[in-house]
Amino acid sequence: MQKSTYQNSLTFARKLDREDPLRRFRNDFHLPKQASGKPYLYFCGNSLGLQPKSTKTAIQQELSDWKKHGVEGHFESDTPWMPYHEFLTENMATVVGAKPIETVVMNTLSVNLHLMMVSFYRPTKKRFKILIEHDAFPSDRYAVASQLKFHGFDPDKGLIDLKARDGEVLLRMEDIEQVVEEQGDEIALILFGNPNYYTGQFLDMKTITKLGHKKGAMVGFDCAHGAGNLPLNLHDSGADFAVWCTYKYLNSGPGSLGGCFVHERHANTATLPRFTGWWGHNKETRFGMRDGFDPIPGVEGWQLSNPPILSMAAIHASLQIFADAGMDALRKKSLQLTGFLEYLINEMPTDRMRIITPTDPTQRGCQLSIQMLNANKVLYDKLTKKGVIADWREPDVIRIAPVPLYNSFEDCWRFVKCLEEVSDL
Ligand SMILES: Cc1ncc(COP(=O)(O)O)c(C=O)c1O
Repeated sequence: MQKSTYQNSLTFARKLDREDPLRRFRNDFHLPKQASGKPYLYFCGNSLGLQPKSTKTAIQQELSDWKKHGVEGHFESDTPWMPYHEFLTENMATVVGAKPIETVVMNTLSVNLHLMMVSFYRPTKKRFKILIEHDAFPSDRYAVASQLKFHGFDPDKGLIDLKARDGEVLLRMEDIEQVVEEQGDEIALILFGNPNYYTGQFLDMKTITKLGHKKGAMVGFDCAHGAGNLPLNLHDSGADFAVWCTYKYLNSGPGSLGGCFVHERHANTATLPRFTGWWGHNKETRFGMRDGFDPIPGVEGWQLSNPPILSMAAIHASLQIFADAGMDALRKKSLQLTGFLEYLINEMPTDRMRIITPTDPTQRGCQLSIQMLNANKVLYDKLTKKGVIADWREPDVIRIAPVPLYNSFEDCWRFVKCLEEVSDL
């Protein structure tokens, strides 16, 4: 839908909701309620996705299988625990645009990032630098700095953190090109958060991967804010690896497991060093307990432990919703929903706020980051009192994520009304 065809009215928002082919999915989620019983305007799916109603049944099923079968549940459960992670692979691969051999659900994001760096950050005296974005998520920054130190390098010398130009917030591809061109011979790894958690900027992974590979660097992405939010096409990107979590757009519950992608060209690379555990070992001989490590081909071979089934059950249930809705349909609605929210914010008669997320829809997912000029958290606290759950990032940014599975056009309209009221327009 063209921006010019949006209208700033509740009637119009409701019309879009009526025409929304995905509107039934909202009812599949628990919307948190205020003391009055009215649902909150929930815009925080970029931090913690809402609970699908099917999650409880999925977890209860595993509890009941455990009660009924004890250890035999590994084989006798309705969804046997032994290969449980395999039941998630196909739907997860579809969500992130990867092949099943490139996709696994395991561990948590930061753990997977370290495991990936064990394999794909192989510094030498000459090539040891890691390129990240200046606004990288703090955990990623800690992780790469610790890897540099672990290999005996000083993070001050080894970490290139690329800043936006003075007076700008977003990264420019030509600046990424320039740093890779200038320092590429010394760069061992390029790692970008995609989309960036703060600005919501989504970078072209294929272009960055080509740039890095041309210079001999490995390339990985932290797609915590991408998985389930927008098409990632990880396989086609050619990236060496990617990691993500499932508790944001994938609605799997607080602290749930992460996802990991290793491109299929590394599926059988025996020379790649890695940290290993029994769950990555050949399934046929895993219980022989004697053999030397024989990795499962593909990313499954990076698994360490037998996984937490209760958490996986939640992911299983959530991925079914994605399979039912379809990523293409979700993206289509998402573009319209975020476009509508952007239009409404831009209609506000104020110059006290600006959206720092790219205006080009191909360079963003559903999140809009709104910078509040000369404001502090008081404004955000007022929004919360009005029944909005969003998220504040110091020093002055409110992140709003209208999620196509459970947010409505009416939610967006109501949110902007609340924003107008607390901004004293
Ligand atoms: C972009 C990004 N990277 C990394 C993390 C850390 O994830 P975890 O705590 O699951 O390791 C988060 C958590 O919100 C994140 O948003």
